[in-house]
Amino acid sequence: MYRKVLLIIGACLLFSFIHNTISAQKKSLAQKVDSVLRLMTLEEKIGQLNQYNDDQSATGPVTLDNDKIGQIKRGQVGSLLNCVGVARTRNWQKVAMQSRLKIPLLFGQDVIHGYKTTFPIPLGEAASWDLEAIQQSARVAATEASASGLHWTFAPMVDIARDPRWGRVMEGAGEDPYLGSLIATARVKGFQGNHLGDLNSVMACVKHFAAYGAAIGGRDYNSVDMSDRLLWEVYLPPFKAALDAGAATFMNSFNDLNGVPATGNSYLQRTILKGKWGFKGFVVSDWGSIGEMINHGNVKDGYEAAQSAITAGCDMDMESRNYKNNLAKLVVDKKINIALINDAVKRILLKKFELGLFDDPFSYSNEAREKAVLNNPEHAKIARSVAAKSIVLLKNDNNVLPLSKNINTIAFIGPLVKSLKQNKGFWDVEVPGVDSDYIVSQWQGLKNKVGANTNLLYAKGCEIEGTNKSGFAEAIAVAKQADVVILSIGERRDMTGEAKSRSNISIPGVQEDLLKALLATGKPVVVLINSGRPLVFNYTADHATAILYTWWLGSEAGNAIADVLFGDVNPSAKLPMSFPVSVGQIPIYYSHFNTGRPALNDANRIYNSSYNDLSIFPKYEFGYGKSYTSFEYSKLQLSMKKIKQTDTIEVSVTITNSGKYDGDEVVQLYLRDRVGSIVRPIKELKDFKKIFLKAGESKTIQFRIDKQKLSFYNQQLKWVAEPGDFDLMIGSSSRDIRVKDSFELVN
Ligand code: GLC
Repeated sequence: MYRKVLLIIGACLLFSFIHNTISAQKKSLAQKVDSVLRLMTLEEKIGQLNQYNDDQSATGPVTLDNDKIGQIKRGQVGSLLNCVGVARTRNWQKVAMQSRLKIPLLFGQDVIHGYKTTFPIPLGEAASWDLEAIQQSARVAATEASASGLHWTFAPMVDIARDPRWGRVMEGAGEDPYLGSLIATARVKGFQGNHLGDLNSVMACVKHFAAYGAAIGGRDYNSVDMSDRLLWEVYLPPFKAALDAGAATFMNSFNDLNGVPATGNSYLQRTILKGKWGFKGFVVSDWGSIGEMINHGNVKDGYEAAQSAITAGCDMDMESRNYKNNLAKLVVDKKINIALINDAVKRILLKKFELGLFDDPFSYSNEAREKAVLNNPEHAKIARSVAAKSIVLLKNDNNVLPLSKNINTIAFIGPLVKSLKQNKGFWDVEVPGVDSDYIVSQWQGLKNKVGANTNLLYAKGCEIEGTNKSGFAEAIAVAKQADVVILSIGERRDMTGEAKSRSNISIPGVQEDLLKALLATGKPVVVLINSGRPLVFNYTADHATAILYTWWLGSEAGNAIADVLFGDVNPSAKLPMSFPVSVGQIPIYYSHFNTGRPALNDANRIYNSSYNDLSIFPKYEFGYGKSYTSFEYSKLQLSMKKIKQTDTIEVSVTITNSGKYDGDEVVQLYLRDRVGSIVRPIKELKDFKKIFLKAGESKTIQFRIDKQKLSFYNQQLKWVAEPGDFDLMIGSSSRDIRVKDSFELVN
């Protein structure tokens, strides 16, 4: 007993020591920030809120000004973006050290899916449902970016997106807030590591706050109009998850939300983010979005734009120059209180202290470290593994895959077979001198894989776009010599991304005609579809022998594709977004309401919520993806069938690998609240587990259902769980439900 008491006392003393140490550190940082703030002139304070694009490259409309160096020397600039590499960042930091107070610059960059080592586009990575892999990918990106002088990445993009016409679906994690929240958390942890100031960590920047992915018509930068309830239930959760993971910064968005531009939206930035959620980091505008409030028609000029944005909680002005040109006058005119500026400056200075930049402004600019880190072979291995986990097997007739390694002849055909940079997708980083020679093409990946006895034939067949079929004859001739044809088709990498909204999301050009011609040879055709978004490809879906959705897989694309084609990796990815049969179905997502006249199938279209001319079902649903093996679900058990608000149900289910290949299965758990004061979706993803099973192996896995998983925002925006019956469904996709049960929540 005595020993126990001593242990408890010791634990308490240790806890209070740690707590006091941390709070002392925080206090000392706050004191340091205050001590710098007291020295600053108004002009220098405004300088910290001013971010310029460097002149290496641009990710938006450029404003040229020729005295950046002079402005930095006068302390009128706080940060640069699109400035990469130790040499370049070191030079700019040297200029900043000539300013009166020597406040270091922050260097930010869109490191969205890798820096030198390019990983799959984020939507592709999301298809892995592998949170560890996703975190590791961000970790490698942060390690490489920080070794190249960067302090800050403008990622993760966490916008929920349910309209594949919107080109920026490629940057996020798809349509579901539960999956999106977990992936946002993984990415923030990967980028920021254990804590800021670790040399392998960079600040994350959660974007685009908020609801940018709901742009009407899928047209980029378009308006967003939704109820607060939908905003809270679907679009805000990934932001809150990222904040809870410690995200250092947020970026607001170009869109207006219910008529108020996000950049000038105090409900979003003050009431929610800095108020209710208590965010202590800082908010940066999105490229010129402060000035764009004039176009929105929300303010009449730059003076009012600056006033609106700083008042609404936008701390840093990316590229618009409206803070630099107007804030001082707004203070003099008593239109804003200096306290607004002081608060923004303190938020930014605090991050510069946390990054250790006041101790050593050049700590991230070390040539030797950059050289070593950017040539670490481990990074390529990780990229290859993450890429293979991102490939979705959509179809595999006659089990044509995996290919035998003794296969005699393969015809590898298509406009993307020998591409290099296409594999990087949109939002790759142009790293001077090191990027384009480090990509494994799809052709090279197969050459690396096949043995001396396998004959690899090639034909381009056609271009990505255009109507020219003159290459078909050569492709057909090559196909006729082969045991199997692999056809790699899709988009150009810059057909999906920012400002790349498309009204027609079919596979462009005559690529599907090429498939038809190749199928006419009678050979099995395995199709690789390369894209940044869900495409419409019904002919391919209905006629190809097998289909792998390969997104854009990055630097190790070729090796990863070969690993899956030959079964060294059994595909396990699941779609993070619904794939429509036609653009006419959009928006289409699995967690929809039932409506008063539910359309339950395509057979009966009378007096229900269906199309008269189109199926109500997507071509491929959220959570869909095949494996080379098969999985059986059995023995579903619930520890309780009637629970109170404080109870937790223990759910167990047995999964068996009933096929002949070892493999991973993403076991998905969906719930339906049958009756609610706000109608509830027909199902919502509430948990999942990705498990590995050897051929023939069985595992029993557990889930826990608590009040949190039963709750939703009611009419008063209160997060509540209402008594009533719930359906529990567990399956291999949102439509492929294998086992189900129900339970009741009593009051
Ligand atoms: C772009 C994008 C944003 C990016 C920023 C800086 O316009 O909207 O996601 O981080 O500008 O490149």
